Amino acid sequence: MDKMIRLSVFRFDPEAGDKPFMQAFEVPVTKPGMKLLDALNYIKWHIDGTLTYRRSCGEGVCGSDGLNINGVNGLACITEIAGLKQPIHVRPLPSMLVIRDLVVDMDHFFDQYRQIKPWMQTSTPVPEHERLQAPQDRAKLDGQYECILCGCCTTSCPSWWWNGDRFLGPAALLQANRWIVDSRDEATGERFDQLEDAFRLYRCHQIMNCMEACPKQLNPTAAINHIKRSMLKRQS
Ligand code: FES
Repeated sequence: MDKMIRLSVFRFDPEAGDKPFMQAFEVPVTKPGMKLLDALNYIKWHIDGTLTYRRSCGEGVCGSDGLNINGVNGLACITEIAGLKQPIHVRPLPSMLVIRDLVVDMDHFFDQYRQIKPWMQTSTPVPEHERLQAPQDRAKLDGQYECILCGCCTTSCPSWWWNGDRFLGPAALLQANRWIVDSRDEATGERFDQLEDAFRLYRCHQIMNCMEACPKQLNPTAAINHIKRSMLKRQS
């Protein structure tokens, strides 16, 4: 008989009118190196087709399956079952409005991302060819651009839990820094102006949950500190 994995999965169906509850499941180990997403897929395809969760790439690229796994945020598709204490507690990302089961409402998260204007802004004439960037300037984007917007960092941040209506949170601020350090962007002053606010930026209190939670090993705290230091420099 296959070795079995025990899971305890958050369930909530607002249309049924029931309260949320944790449901126990047992699924077989179906392959070596099995991931948590494989277990959720097994439940959906073989045990309970109503289990609802997001996933797409299955490779840690799309960022759609951020979950709280045994109390720690991470991506189901790259989290190995073997390293997890059982029963594996699987919950939606913390502090988020639950739409159904493991699916949360990401609208506010993406609205905050849009607020930092995550695109290159320029005022100089468009060059005949592309805007060039020296290799050493391109290197400054490493550790910034790889964010997949899964929300694992932002939803692990107590400052965002308490002030998420006004504090932009680690993911949006990491992306703000990504454009601030981009040598081709010409709106750095406006970007600083937009962040110069007691809540939008300065509600980061260096708790550092974000860097622990990031499945891409990025460091939003360092990015936020870089923004703060750069803003201090422009004041002096
Ligand atoms: Fe795309 Fe996990 S399914 S990141």
